[in-house]
Amino acid sequence: MSDASEVRVAVSLLEQARRVVVLSGAGMSAESGIATFRSRDGVAGLWDQYDPMTLATAQAFSDEPELVWGWYLWRIGTMRAAAPHDGHHAIAALESRGNRDVTVVTQNVDDLHDRAGSTRVLHVHGQLNALRCFDCGATHEDAVEPPADPVRRVPPPRCRRCGGLVRPGIVWFGETLPAEVFSAGQEAVENADLVLLVGTSGVVYPAAGLPAVARAAGVPVVEINPEETPLSDMCDVLLRRPASEALRELATAVIA
Ligand code: OAD
Repeated sequence: MSDASEVRVAVSLLEQARRVVVLSGAGMSAESGIATFRSRDGVAGLWDQYDPMTLATAQAFSDEPELVWGWYLWRIGTMRAAAPHDGHHAIAALESRGNRDVTVVTQNVDDLHDRAGSTRVLHVHGQLNALRCFDCGATHEDAVEPPADPVRRVPPPRCRRCGGLVRPGIVWFGETLPAEVFSAGQEAVENADLVLLVGTSGVVYPAAGLPAVARAAGVPVVEINPEETPLSDMCDVLLRRPASEALRELATAVIA
C-alpha cells in the first residue's frame, strides 16, 4: 500500500472504532525532547550512552544510590521541561471530542499524555514522579530539585515514615510490572476496536506482547513509527511517520 492508502485505511478504522487503545513507547515522547532508549538514524538513545545495569536495577540503587538518584532526578527535570506535542493533544482530542473511549497504555514514565488531557492513562512501567520509599514503599510527596547534569551524584531523600531511601516510582529491570495496571491494559486491548501502536521498538516484554493480544482478539493494529520494528509484521496498517504528524492527521480526519 502507498502511504496515502495506508492513511485512508487507518482513518476508516478509526472512524468505525468506539473503543481505541493507544500503546505508546519512547518514540511518542521523542518530539517533546525526551530521549528514546535505543538509537535511531544515528541519534544515540539513553541506553547507548548509559549502562542500564548500573542505573536501572534495584541492585544498582542499593550499590550506588547517589549515582542512580542523580540520574533519575535529571530525567525528572527533563520531563518537567518538556511539553506535550500535537500527537499527545490529538490522542486527548480523540477522547474528548467524539463518542470514543480512549485508553492509553504507555511504557513511558513521563506524564505527557496526562498533561495533554488524556484521562485514562495506564503507566505499565510506572511514573518517574511517583516517588516512594525503597524499603517500606510509602509515597514521598516532598518537592525535589533536579540537577542540570545527568552525571551528578545526589543523595536520595529519606522516607518520612521509616528513614529509608526514596526512589523513582518506575519499573526497573528485573522488577515486575504493576499487576493491576498491566491486566487493565490487557483487558482494554482485548476489548478494543482498534489499537494504535506508537513509537515503541517492541523489544521489551511483557509490554511488547500487547499487539499479539490484539491480534489474537481480532483487533486491528496500526503502527505509527518511522522505522520497521519486530512487531510490524503483525500490524494491519503501517504509518512510517513521526507520531506528531501521523496522529494529528488521523485526529483531524475523524473529529468533526
Ligand atoms: P525505544 O527507545 O526502544 O524505541 C523507541 C521507538 O520509537 C523506536 O522504534 C523508534 O523508531 C521510534 N521513534 C523514534 N522517534 C519517533 C517519532 N517521532 N514518532 C514515532 N516513533 C518514533 O523505546 P521503547 O520501545 O519505549 O523500560 O522502550 C521500551 C522500554 O525499554 C522502556 O519503557 C524502558 C526501556 O528500557 C523501562 O524503563 C522499564
